Amino acid sequence: MTQLVHGNAELRLAINGLASNICLVPTMGALHEGHAALIKAAKNFVGRDGCVVVSDFVNPKQFGQSEDFKKYPRDLEHDLKVARSSGAHILWAPSVEDVYPGQWPLDIETDPRFEILEGKSRPGHFAAVIEVVTRLFDIVQPNVAVFGEKDFQQLIFITNMANKRDPKIGILAIPTKRDSDGLALSSRNIYLSSDQRNVAHLIPDALKAAVLLASKGFSVRDIKEQVIQTISQSDLISLEYIELLSNDLTPITPGVVGRILIAVKLGDIRLIDNMPILLKENS
Ligand code: PAF
Repeated sequence: MTQLVHGNAELRLAINGLASNICLVPTMGALHEGHAALIKAAKNFVGRDGCVVVSDFVNPKQFGQSEDFKKYPRDLEHDLKVARSSGAHILWAPSVEDVYPGQWPLDIETDPRFEILEGKSRPGHFAAVIEVVTRLFDIVQPNVAVFGEKDFQQLIFITNMANKRDPKIGILAIPTKRDSDGLALSSRNIYLSSDQRNVAHLIPDALKAAVLLASKGFSVRDIKEQVIQTISQSDLISLEYIELLSNDLTPITPGVVGRILIAVKLGDIRLIDNMPILLKENS
């Protein structure tokens, strides 16, 4: 049974009545199979005596002015169903005042890597994500928090923040859940028209082809060129960036597993994806 709670005091009461081992799954709602996988992983991780809290909060601060905050899908009844069928104990849907009481904003330590990849087209986004996750951690006080690898850049910054600020909180990273054609699950996929959805598989196709080329010793330049060619098979998709980086978002080192990260636009819809990649030592 999943308990739906709203205010912070109601949340604390619900947690206190349950368990000491608390696992937080932060979300912005619009729960899909990808979130279900995170909740199930959390459930597995905490075991029988643990408590899985799913936060459901569309954080206004992390949307840019031209972004889709108002349009962002919200359906608490649907979210409760997904949370329930995945085994969450608590679905916590706080208000803006619950998450941002008087003493805000927090002093967030910036990082030059906030400005690359996603940060280039979304100024202020990562500072806002770190701020809200810090606040969620302070309110819930989890032992562990679960995040998907789809938002890889966010995962790196949250892990750093947790390690510095409260190393007792463990961060569990879960591989990206994909549709049958390989498209990474995302709350934004529902906005795709059927024509856009039909070509969206080119995104994971391009990444998979890149991983294969890397294993054969191709250079970063050739790999990127191949990705551009795959994506340009459809004029419905435009490439925003394709980068090969190390797992801490510094330049990639051949012989050490890193990441290939992509952002594309299909009309107004912006999608991101990434995969692990290993460049051969001599490439
Ligand atoms: O990944 C998300 O859904 C959000 O960025 C997060 C971590 C819940 C913070 O609002």
